[in-house]
Amino acid sequence: MLKSEFSTKVNYFPQLLDKIKTKNACVGIIGVGYVGQALVRALLSAGYQTYGYDIDKDKLRSIDHKYFRPTTDIRNFENCDVICICVPTPLDRNRKPDLNCLRQASSDVASLQRQGQLVIVESTVAPGTLRTFVLPIFEGSGKKCGRDFYLAISPERVDPGNTRFTIKNTPKVVGGIDEISAFLAVEFYSNFIERVVPTTTAEVAELSKILENTFRLVNISLINEIKNYADRSGIDIWEVIDTAATKPFAFMPHYPGPGVGGHCIPVDPVYLVEEARNKGVRLGIVESAIAVNEAQPKKIVQEAKKALNGRPNGKKAKMLLVGIAYKPGSSDTRESPALKIWEEAERRGFRVSYFDPHVPKLNGHASKPLNYETLLEQDVIIIATDHQGVPYEMLGSLNKPIIDSRNILKKFARNNSLKSKDI
Ligand SMILES: NC(=O)c1ccc[n+]([C@@H]2O[C@H](COP(=O)([O-])OP(=O)(O)OC[C@H]3O[C@@H](n4cnc5c(N)ncnc54)[C@H](O)[C@@H]3O)[C@@H](O)[C@H]2O)c1
Repeated sequence: MLKSEFSTKVNYFPQLLDKIKTKNACVGIIGVGYVGQALVRALLSAGYQTYGYDIDKDKLRSIDHKYFRPTTDIRNFENCDVICICVPTPLDRNRKPDLNCLRQASSDVASLQRQGQLVIVESTVAPGTLRTFVLPIFEGSGKKCGRDFYLAISPERVDPGNTRFTIKNTPKVVGGIDEISAFLAVEFYSNFIERVVPTTTAEVAELSKILENTFRLVNISLINEIKNYADRSGIDIWEVIDTAATKPFAFMPHYPGPGVGGHCIPVDPVYLVEEARNKGVRLGIVESAIAVNEAQPKKIVQEAKKALNGRPNGKKAKMLLVGIAYKPGSSDTRESPALKIWEEAERRGFRVSYFDPHVPKLNGHASKPLNYETLLEQDVIIIATDHQGVPYEMLGSLNKPIIDSRNILKKFARNNSLKSKDI
């Protein structure tokens, strides 16, 4: 289709609004990973016919439902009235924002010959990305936003594995390139999400998501920094936090650990710092928080060396990592601090193995069984992630150095002694 052939007369809005309101809209999801899958499931249970497109065929196999249409051919998305883009927005090798997946997904949708579609980006991006990066890709093909298509952003806030807060009951933030796009996107989400929060601009929506995750990174890095001081001073940081948390207002407890991992919290603040830098603004606190977070795994390895009086020197010492996923109950190892501990420990001469009930295999290694035989052959044990159901009593009974970065052994012992007192 030539650029000049795009309609200037047809108004797609009433028809699209009607399809959205009556749930007759056909929805397409690009990127059926953690976020995309959760969205597909929410849409299917709301009764939408849903297409899923992913460059990874295995992701498409994970959903089996009579109204789900998996496809590896984007041309099938011409049938879709609403398209949600849920592709990754990671960091590249130099730890800079990498928008290649978003560029590709946007170009694929822009290449469709269908008009009157509502496109919503759910990936996390820096403020201004929808308007200055995504919109030109769509308008470059001659279409005009608000006339030939509609474009909005709704950064996903879902916490995979969280059963209390799901897509349905987590308020959904929505901003549009223009008022019509925002309105349509709000109508769409209102059909299957309890509360939708419209913003006046797309940029407010983009920055609110990054603010949420930056807030967490800054606070976790703050507590990791205070822990360094508390350790040096012989003060129990965990008791300090519990004590401060008795204040019924203003204080919000955050806990130390080996550094925060996952696809969002260590990554999103980098998007913000880069965008601010482009505008000539330095975000000193955020930059420091990123630096503190990135230094945590090194600190854990230093602690392990200290516990072994500087070993390993000649002979390699054995280190077992307990919990390799980035958070409890998850198998997700993206940006996991445990992997960074592993890398650093190997550089320092440790021989590393791991145990994780949720990650049976990783990069050619298999999770070790957690029994006395495994434990007794270790020189040092690092608890990196506090999964439930791990025999912590076995770890607690060992007479060898354990770096418990989550304080789980103390919590476990306390809970169990409380239970036995109850009995
Ligand atoms: N995982 C989370 O907890 C979470 C929470 C909120 C927001 N987010 C954000 O949501 C976005 C997606 O994150 P995720 O965790 O679902 O990522 P993911 O890696 O689990 O899934 C993304 C999927 O997109 C696919 N993909 C990549 N490029 C593609 C393309 N050009 N066309 C089609 N498919 C493509 C990948 O194969 C993958 O299956 C990111 O921006 C992330 O920051 C993630």
